[in-house]
Amino acid sequence: MKVLLSGIQPSGNLHIGNYLGAIKQWVELQKSYRVFISIVDLHAITVPQDPRELRKNTLELAALLIACGIDPKKSVLFLQSHIPAHIELGWILNTLTPVSELERMTQFKEKKERAGALAGLLNYPWLQAADILLYRPDVVPVGEDQLQHLEFTRTLARKFNNRFGKTFNEPKALIPKETARIMGLDDPTKKMSKSAPSPNNYIGLLDSPEEIRRKIKIAVTDSDKEIRYDIKTKPAISNLMTIYSAFSELSHGAIEKRYQNKGYAQFKNDLAELLVKKLMPIQQKYRELSRGKKVIKILQDGAKKASLVANKTLLEVKKKVGLLQ
Ligand code: AMP
Ligand code: TRP
Repeated sequence: MKVLLSGIQPSGNLHIGNYLGAIKQWVELQKSYRVFISIVDLHAITVPQDPRELRKNTLELAALLIACGIDPKKSVLFLQSHIPAHIELGWILNTLTPVSELERMTQFKEKKERAGALAGLLNYPWLQAADILLYRPDVVPVGEDQLQHLEFTRTLARKFNNRFGKTFNEPKALIPKETARIMGLDDPTKKMSKSAPSPNNYIGLLDSPEEIRRKIKIAVTDSDKEIRYDIKTKPAISNLMTIYSAFSELSHGAIEKRYQNKGYAQFKNDLAELLVKKLMPIQQKYRELSRGKKVIKILQDGAKKASLVANKTLLEVKKKVGLLQ
């Protein structure tokens, strides 16, 4: 079976952009891939975190991923910090990484403005490369913003192979097309984001039905009244149609037909109800999971499975590099 690996930061307020752009694909691909999902808590601390919030967000994310359909029987869900091999391989890869390559990473340049140019932020990419290469995945589903990190990973794999003999494959990025970028409800020119200034920017996976209805009602629309998909001239309605389409499996064309001569109010009303209907089962499952110690147990099992794979790769790498056993 082919291997898929992805990583996600436990930064709280998971929203429908994360769901449609990432999690939904992972859930579907569990049918055809051996899936590894790493909650990258060591990456999260490259910007300041409140320890209590970090713990809460980590558990919340794990429970939400399972509630969204990541099945611990099929897939390996684990915390990055539970597998020391990530840091060990990361260190070895770090010794092959030119500083200039780290400095030109877009994410570093952006984040250092906000969080300060700490070394952890600069070193983020080689840890991500280790996250990936340890599991020898065929594909790595990521958002467009991560393509640079993935290219960096592939370059490192090639560099390691050239120097020490074939060890790593060069995993391919898997970018979901339609829903690769869900835009903000209050500003359709920017990506939906939990760090947006207003929570009206996104629909959180844990938002209540009232919040969902309110946020959709006040979502920005375009100047005319037509429900028509046209990213250039109608970015706001097109974005809402993409969300509608992704949750209903109706095409943009079918949605246009359904709302011919109907206006925004009816469309928004139906979209809100669709979201409530689709998110409620996820929230219910999340609440069930949050009650006991089930999530911790799943993460412990995940760590056991992940470390078997990771330690095998690490051992091979250490030997090749000349580190004594
Ligand atoms: P983040 O928390 O921003 O690191 O995102 C976690 C995952 O969700 C990544 O795979 C992102 O590419 C994806 N993602 C985040 N925001 C959006 C969005 N607005 N539209 C689509 N995918 C997104
Ligand atoms: N940098 C990724 C993000 O911000 C998260 C990440 C860390 C990741 N390690 C990974 C994604 C490995 C894919 C594979 O979204």
